[in-house]
Amino acid sequence: MAPLPSKAGSLLRVCQRQPLRPLCPLATAQQRRTKADVVERSAGEYDQTPKFQSPFKNSNDNPTTKVPSFGKYMSKKGETSNKTFQYFMVGTMGLLSAAGAKATVQDFLVNMSASADVLAQAKVEIDLAAIPEGKNVIIKWRGKPVFVRHRTQDEIKEAEDTKWEALRDPQPDSERVQRPEWLIMVGVCTHLGCVPIGEAGDFGGWFCPCHGSHYDISGRVRKGPAPLNLAVPEYGFPEDEKVVIG
Ligand code: FES
Repeated sequence: MAPLPSKAGSLLRVCQRQPLRPLCPLATAQQRRTKADVVERSAGEYDQTPKFQSPFKNSNDNPTTKVPSFGKYMSKKGETSNKTFQYFMVGTMGLLSAAGAKATVQDFLVNMSASADVLAQAKVEIDLAAIPEGKNVIIKWRGKPVFVRHRTQDEIKEAEDTKWEALRDPQPDSERVQRPEWLIMVGVCTHLGCVPIGEAGDFGGWFCPCHGSHYDISGRVRKGPAPLNLAVPEYGFPEDEKVVIG
């Protein structure tokens, strides 16, 4: 055997002189038990009966599929009180669900409905007593101009006598007014949306300077590129001297 270096050789000699000690007490106990088992087995005294007793026994005396009786926990009054309680619970849950659904739908509708400023713009009330005969008034309704014309008797006669059947957008004057003296129209040119000028044009009605459309005293297109008559909005007369547009 080749001689070891001096430090390694001295360490090896110390290890050979001292016996190896176990790493922990548990390991020592395990070693002892293993030794005892070996002695027992070698002596033929090993007990073949399993020492573990299972709590789950499958016999007729104690079947594992038997459902335990909970009779002593059941109500003494019978099924009636149980059903009453069930009905009460179902009814309560139904009421709570209905209340929640109602609140949800209500919140949704409130959010979707028009705000107060939008509702205020939806209808416009006009005092007709302030508009003299033969004059125009322009008001703003839903962001658009609306013409209100207090027509004279001559203008009414001219509008009614016009041969409307031959016009580009044929319409009698009686279909465009509720009261002959009040002509109410949306003041937006039906060509490209300019605002026509009142008391102008070849027919004494309105003239659109953008491309030269002429409207008569009933707001019907008579000349120029506009394809349709000026639109008539929804309106009504709640009182003799008042009109509500919208
Ligand atoms: S927009 Fe009025 S004529 Fe073109």
